[in-house]
Amino acid sequence: MQKLIEKIKDRTAVVGIVGLGYVGLPLAVLQAKTGYRVLGIDGVSEKVERVNKADNYISDVADADLQQVIRNGRLTATCDFNVLRDCDVVLICVPTPLTPNKEPDISAILKVTGELAKYAHPDMLVVLESTTYPGTTDEVMLPILTATGLKVGDTLFMAFSPERVDPGNRSFKTHNTFKLVGGVTRSCLTVARTFYEQSIVKIFTVSHSRVAEMAKVFENVFRSVNIALVNELAILCDRMGMNAYEVIDAAATKNFGFMPFYPGPGVGGHCIPLDPYYLAWKSKEYDLHTRFIELAGEINEGMPYYVAAKLQRILNRRGLCLNGAKILVLGITYKADVGDERETPAIKVMELLQREQAQLAYVAPFVPSVSVAERSYEGTTLTVERLAASDCALILTAHSSFDYDLVVRHAPVVYDTRNATKNVQAAKTNVFLL
Ligand SMILES: NC(=O)c1ccc[n+]([C@@H]2O[C@H](COP(=O)([O-])OP(=O)(O)OC[C@H]3O[C@@H](n4cnc5c(N)ncnc54)[C@H](O)[C@@H]3O)[C@@H](O)[C@H]2O)c1
Repeated sequence: MQKLIEKIKDRTAVVGIVGLGYVGLPLAVLQAKTGYRVLGIDGVSEKVERVNKADNYISDVADADLQQVIRNGRLTATCDFNVLRDCDVVLICVPTPLTPNKEPDISAILKVTGELAKYAHPDMLVVLESTTYPGTTDEVMLPILTATGLKVGDTLFMAFSPERVDPGNRSFKTHNTFKLVGGVTRSCLTVARTFYEQSIVKIFTVSHSRVAEMAKVFENVFRSVNIALVNELAILCDRMGMNAYEVIDAAATKNFGFMPFYPGPGVGGHCIPLDPYYLAWKSKEYDLHTRFIELAGEINEGMPYYVAAKLQRILNRRGLCLNGAKILVLGITYKADVGDERETPAIKVMELLQREQAQLAYVAPFVPSVSVAERSYEGTTLTVERLAASDCALILTAHSSFDYDLVVRHAPVVYDTRNATKNVQAAKTNVFLL
């Protein structure tokens, strides 16, 4: 253990990072900038080639940083798992999606753990960073790795340390976001904490890897439940003829005990729509049905249907129906100013409108084309003519690059599901909120 800690402190430890996506690539660049030799491993050869050419594909990574660590040889990427034999520290950042029936799919973690078992050696730290259910590190990965003869807390050190990156957040990046660390044993925690202390400003340790796993998934449950609560409020306000945003902003003036969340056309990204179901699944093993999680999922997943139904009502008032209506969709990604379209509710909304024969076109930065139920669309630009020729502009993502004044002035009707038009000065008689 002491030898590994020395290598971590004097930066001679070699760091392997498996999965070079939204989480893994920023982490790889951070560790390389910290002074480690970093070996990035990804199953997709195109990504590996791009990393090695310093051709950046993650907006949270600065081009100059990637170029610097590739040029100085601190970061190299490969598809070949056998480089793990040279690694002292291995961080796993692979996806944790759901099956079609919303059960955890940890096949990527299992695959990587299987590869690791081939190359694991004494004095190795293995940390899982992927979001998952409590118990994945010690109940699933540990037996596979200790079957090699390594002894946890003695020759093998294992921990869970969730990534909490918030893509597009300008203030909080990997290095200055509080890092939770939970070890399988006390010595595992000591080694893992020492490693993260070299590159991350604030570390918060917990008593076990399972606590860190639970904390991470609970953070996402918290968001999902609160978003569902305001989504329900928005539906109620619509029926009662009130502006939900005004209500929320009024409640948020309370100096304590209230935290504003805002409604929208649904939840997206690789966290909020998925992670809560990991906990719901695990809880059944303990004879508990986590009803908040299921209820929040039900409400949030119902929002695209609500948006499609309300759009139908809006058109109806103008004597139009969805069939044949020209709908100009503004924004595709699950949140503003990022290029991540995973699980975005915009695609679901478009699918529902497409099913009713609406004529769709879309405008979205970062997304040149999209596929909606086997039909593909090319993005277009936001022009006065296009707005005027539409029957409705449907705002699904509040990108800061959109000219909302232009939208309100030239679209016959605007259905704004994000309150993106709140600062528009022009009369907003044609704007409908969520
Ligand atoms: N994106 C976020 O905002 C975010 C935030 C916090 C936590 N997380 C969690 O981090 C994990 C990774 O998420 P992400 O957004 O980086 O995903 P991602 O899809 O962007 O990246 C994962 C990478 O792993 C690679 N990969 C998949 N299976 C592999 C395998 N068997 N071997 C090698 N490489 C493999 C993929 O090719 C991909 O490049 C997930 O558990 C996610 O829930 C994501």
